[in-house]
Order: sequence, then C-alpha cells, then structure tokens
Amino acid sequence: MINLKYVIYNSLLIATCSITLHASQLSDDALKGKELFNKANCKKCHIVDGEFDKMNQKVQNIKNLASWVSACDNSLQIGWFPEEQEKVTKYLNETHYKLEK
Ligand code: HEC
Repeated sequence: MINLKYVIYNSLLIATCSITLHASQLSDDALKGKELFNKANCKKCHIVDGEFDKMNQKVQNIKNLASWVSACDNSLQIGWFPEEQEKVTKYLNETHYKLEK
C-alpha cells in the first residue's frame, strides 16, 4: 500500500535536505531526522533556549536513545516508521548525545 502522505513528505524532505546539505556536518540520515523532529513538534517539549533539552538524562547508550525516540513517538501518536525513528535517533546523537554505541 502506498501512503501518499509519506511520499509527499519524503519529497519535501529531499528538497529541504539538498538545500541544507552543504552547510551541515550531519549525515544524510541525521538531516532527515532533523526535519522529522522539527515537523513532529518534538521541540514543543524538548527545545529550551535553542538546545535539545534532555530532561532527566536517562540515556546511556544508543539503544536507550532509540527507545526514548520510539516512546515519545508512540505517546504522541506520530506514527514514524522504524527507519524514521532511526534517523531521528541519529540526528539527536550527532547533534547532542555523541554516543559511540
Ligand atoms: C509532551 C512533551 C513531549 C514531547 C512533545 C516530546 N517529548 Fe520526548 N520526553 C518528554 C519527557 C517528559 C521526557 C522525559 C521522561 C522521563 O525522564 O521520565 C522525554 C524524554 C525524551 C528522550 C530521552 C531524553 C534523555 O536523554 O533522557 C528523548 C530522546 C526524547 N524524549 C525524544 C523525543 C522525540 C524524538 C519527540 C518527538 C517525536 C519527543 N521526544 C517529543 C516529553 C516530550
């Protein structure tokens, strides 16, 4: 089944990414994750003074981080695909957590 919203969304992401690609050190996946993060309004709770607010800072490793991304996705009923959650995880890791594993 083709999800039209997803197709349109991805075309937008690709368009946005090709503009920002040169100005950024982030991987392609992380750049897509950034877009997803912004569109899903994760900022509403997590961006404080322009920085990602880790709140209680329970994250110790990438697996932890991924499950938090998944938990917030689920509780907000955003409905990201697993590969989208992965991109958001990469975005947060490359910009904030910088965990090796
Ligand atoms: C309604 C407010 C709210 C929104 C919107 C929200 N979160 Fe969260 N998030 C929280 C709270 C509260 C915690 C911490 C819970 C705790 O520590 O018990 C948290 C924790 C996290 C953590 C773990 C932080 C750490 O280092 O301990 C990550 C990662 C995260 N959220 C990602 C996301 C993503 C991605 C989105 C967008 C899909 C999102 N959140 C949207 C409230 C929110």
